[in-house]
Amino acid sequence: MTANYSLDALWMPFTANRDFKQSPRLIARTEGVYCYTDSGRPLLDGTAGLWCVNAGHGRAEIADAIARQARELDYSSPFNCGHEIGFRYAERLVRYAPPALNRVFFSNSGSEAVESALKIALAYQAARGKPQKHRLIGRELAYHGVNFGGISVGGLEPNRSGFGPLLAATHLPHTLDLARNAFSRGLPGQGVEQAEALGRMIRQQGADSVAAVIVEPVSGAGGVILPPQGYLQRLREICDQYDVLLIFDEVITGWGRLGAPFAATEFGVVPDMIVTAKGITNGVIPMGAVLVRQDIQQTVFDAAPEGAVELFHGYTYSGHPVACAAAMATLDIYEREGLLNRAGGAIGQYWEQALHDLRDCVGVVDVRNYGLIGALQFDAALNQGHPFALALIKRCFEEGVMVRTMGHTLALSPPLTIEPAQIDELLAGVRRAATGLFGVGWR
Ligand SMILES: Cc1ncc(COP(=O)(O)O)c(C=O)c1O
Repeated sequence: MTANYSLDALWMPFTANRDFKQSPRLIARTEGVYCYTDSGRPLLDGTAGLWCVNAGHGRAEIADAIARQARELDYSSPFNCGHEIGFRYAERLVRYAPPALNRVFFSNSGSEAVESALKIALAYQAARGKPQKHRLIGRELAYHGVNFGGISVGGLEPNRSGFGPLLAATHLPHTLDLARNAFSRGLPGQGVEQAEALGRMIRQQGADSVAAVIVEPVSGAGGVILPPQGYLQRLREICDQYDVLLIFDEVITGWGRLGAPFAATEFGVVPDMIVTAKGITNGVIPMGAVLVRQDIQQTVFDAAPEGAVELFHGYTYSGHPVACAAAMATLDIYEREGLLNRAGGAIGQYWEQALHDLRDCVGVVDVRNYGLIGALQFDAALNQGHPFALALIKRCFEEGVMVRTMGHTLALSPPLTIEPAQIDELLAGVRRAATGLFGVGWR
């Protein structure tokens, strides 16, 4: 029991439930870049929730938009019916994507948006008379959500194993290469040749059997893995060469995280579809979307008889009016405060320097950064698997900062509103936690 309620009934996601319930960490309130515990202690939110609260917490205008919308039009079926805010928001949303991707399919989460993108890829190949092009390619250490399509193309073994046979998918090698790239600032210089694995894989399977390749432009949950310079461009060329669709999963890289609306815009590589979620509503209410090339949609439309449903896919809450209202209000904030480009400016430079100042921190073997993403990788010798990751989260929590850990990597992605003094506060907390946990003079 905590206070006057029990923690027993709730099965918490991606959490060591039994450990948590022994020593719960409860958040009662949020404001700006801070979360507050149930005892009122402030914690600097070093991960913008789960890479989603890009404009910071407690944005009253998003809450107000939600309340207004729920009073006026709380819900109506998205099947065979529509509402103005859905169409208006779709029209506005596509303006942030590369111009070719001007069609959008809504979901309620990143996982659902991934499933939608994979299904659209297969539907497109079938619609153009190539149903045999149905194989999917993902990448090692990739996270594409937790549904069956997503874990099939995903490359995080614990998320895949134990769930039976998955969709047929092969995986490109990941691009993490500490031997050549440790302590790079921004995109690492070495490793563009890793992209050639895609060509080899497609040739092995036969280009006439491969539908799509999906990658996170920057891998998040796999440990913040940056694409080597030129790597994404090369993937694009290979996909063009073999007539394979390229899907960018931008669930974390979208909405200003890298200093531009999307990684596609930041890196100048136009995929055929972009998957987005999280920051789309500043994390306040669930929403996801797939941005799609117009001719992909047109091909699927053209293949269906007049009057028939073109794509047998959709969710009860696709384009929920309340989510659309939240997303509109979120865009207003992003635009007014220049947040979609902020990480590419002075604050991003401050972040890079401050992060790299941690390279002398005990146990650190790599520092990675881009925009307002960062990671510290600790020596694997310290890593006792999950207990290491959990111990570091707990210690950071005690030191007043919220972080994410995966294996022996600590990931950071603060709200894009963060100020230099708050970056200092966040990283000082991380340093105290690591030093306290691993011991001064450890190496
Ligand atoms: C790259 C990527 N894709 C998909 C997802 C899944 O999103 P959701 O948790 O909203 O289903 C995530 C979540 O972290 C993600 O980082």
